[in-house]
Amino acid sequence: MTNILQDSKLLFTLVTLNDSYMRKIGILIGGGECPGVNSIIKSIIPKSLEHDIEVYGFRHGWEGVLNNDVRKLTLEEMDEAHILGCPMIESSRVNVLQHPDAYERCKANLDALELESVIVIGGDDTLGVADHFQRKGINVVCVPKTIDNDLSGTDYSFGFDTASYVATEAIDRLHTNSKFNSRCFVVEVMGRNTGWIALQAGLAAGAHIVLIPEFPRTLDEIAGIIEDRKQNGKFYTIICVAEGFDLEEMNIDYDALGKDDYGNIRMEQKHIAATLAALLEEKTGIKTRFSVLGHMIRGGVPTAFDRVLGSKFGAKAVELIVEKQYGYMVALQGSSIVAVDLEQAIVRKKVDEEFYHASGYHSYQY
Ligand code: F6P
Repeated sequence: MTNILQDSKLLFTLVTLNDSYMRKIGILIGGGECPGVNSIIKSIIPKSLEHDIEVYGFRHGWEGVLNNDVRKLTLEEMDEAHILGCPMIESSRVNVLQHPDAYERCKANLDALELESVIVIGGDDTLGVADHFQRKGINVVCVPKTIDNDLSGTDYSFGFDTASYVATEAIDRLHTNSKFNSRCFVVEVMGRNTGWIALQAGLAAGAHIVLIPEFPRTLDEIAGIIEDRKQNGKFYTIICVAEGFDLEEMNIDYDALGKDDYGNIRMEQKHIAATLAALLEEKTGIKTRFSVLGHMIRGGVPTAFDRVLGSKFGAKAVELIVEKQYGYMVALQGSSIVAVDLEQAIVRKKVDEEFYHASGYHSYQY
């Protein structure tokens, strides 16, 4: 009898000890949706539990931390979250730094929940807030999630491959219309201030001209290529333009454009495809149509590459959490998943000369 009592006392002590030693972390997603973001979360939860770490999900990115909008994420819930479906935790573009006491409120909420760190999944805006908070005392490990692929230190961010693939398919289809009707087609893709998606998709789909913010071209040059092609019996031209591209002749009034919470210009309000198509038609006399792919490339079924990349990023993030290595972003370099300094990661990565030249779009010899 005494032995049984002692055993159950020991068991109780162990359970209590185990409970109090269970580490706890938070997780949040900020910014635009990326196909298959659940693959990151599906990798994080079981791996964390393997290391006795409980995971709490904040709704609506950093706003959820500010407002303490949080719930515990479970293995059961994860089982039901399909990799193709809507993310298990909602995102937002709310910039919490606009609140004067944002850090104090976020820190207090994390401390009250006894969360020792947060896995932050997002692009430069969300990770910029993470960097700011990290310096003040909130422990973070970040995961690059942006279709724009503009975070430094990583060859690819999660979502870029899918977005580029969807855009490629769309341009493939527009070839038919353009060739059949002997017309010019301008296809606009997202990417904010960089041309990664435009160049990747344009090259993959055989666009004849790719216009990106990093490498300016004049209206005369663009029209010249279309006219050259016509002279050579090629009566159709496909142009893939990044939303961040600009031309003097477009006279865009940037002050009149809307901005998001982080001060980013609402690129779709530039109407670049429509304006460029009108200018080209006027200059060349060739019928020109346009299409804006917009948010279409950001949703739906992820590529195998993004699904696997998400899982690998999630696993690496947990590894860093286990080792209590904070202030890093997980990254893909070659075929290795590594950790890079957050401060360096949030510097905008532009399309490099090497890729642009390799694509051939600098010379336009078609
Ligand atoms: O940063 C990702 C991105 O899709 C950009 O390419 C685009 O300019 C922006 O988000 C659109 O933002 P929203 O979803 O708020 O319209």
